[in-house]
Amino acid sequence: HLTLKLIGYPIKHSLSPWIHHTFIERSGIEGSYSLHEIPSEEVFEEEINKLREAKVNGFNITVPYKQTIIPYLDRMDVTAERVGAVNTVSLEGDKWVGYNTDGIGYVQALRDKFPDMDRNIDVSILILGAGGAARGIFHGLIQAGYNDLTLANRTKTKCEDIVKGYQASVITLEEAEENLAAYDVIIQTTSVGMNEAKQIVDLANLRKDTIVSDIVYQPLDTPFLNQAKEKGGRTHYGHLMLLYQAQKAFEIWTGQPIDVTGMDEEMIARIK
Ligand code: ATR
Repeated sequence: HLTLKLIGYPIKHSLSPWIHHTFIERSGIEGSYSLHEIPSEEVFEEEINKLREAKVNGFNITVPYKQTIIPYLDRMDVTAERVGAVNTVSLEGDKWVGYNTDGIGYVQALRDKFPDMDRNIDVSILILGAGGAARGIFHGLIQAGYNDLTLANRTKTKCEDIVKGYQASVITLEEAEENLAAYDVIIQTTSVGMNEAKQIVDLANLRKDTIVSDIVYQPLDTPFLNQAKEKGGRTHYGHLMLLYQAQKAFEIWTGQPIDVTGMDEEMIARIK
């Protein structure tokens, strides 16, 4: 029996249990995936110890604890190490191993929707934002071999911190807005647009057929993606990163590939 958990706060409305229950069903493996809410940092250690004692096989860890968990791990894989955050923990032998599947999950989500992304690692990619999500996506793209990356953020120094040691450009949001037509793929990673009618940049200068991706999925139709559609962009919705990071996590826990066919549409129906 595979015992899996989701740790974070708040997580009550998370779609992860539905995603992983679907995976469990599809895989034929006997297992469970349940919420383990940790309401504050003060009780984090105590709650983590409970999971260790219970010998849970694995767990996802989400906001605000993706970094808090690190001192409790025995090992981290290279990607998690580079990103400096963990979203998946797996019990391997008696060791807790930390992974970060956000970036590779995101890249897989992009490639599944736009197969031309698969063939062309020279596409010019603009990442808007420089928070935890941007860092994960940046490393996912680097790892997949994409070599023309640009970061733009309100606070420019945060971009410089992310790209340190890698070949990538850093620009301001104003420069991004002006030069939008230079990019084949634009990825919005900030919380701007979440439950609000705001956009991180105006897409007036967008080139037709550009892939425009927003990781916000509440709402799915963000102002950013709506404008992208109007301008003839190819849109990529925020729930896909959630779905594919979960796929990669489940594959780590089980060692088996898992098919996500049809889950995209069902997630959309559940979010709307
Ligand atoms: P996450 O870990 O979810 O990516 P985060 O680390 O809090 O979240 O990062 C939030 C991102 O959204 C940052 O890039 C932030 O810009 P700053 O680094 O300048 O703070 C960006 N962001 C949030 N609100 C914003 C706003 N109103 N305008 C522009 N950028 C905003």
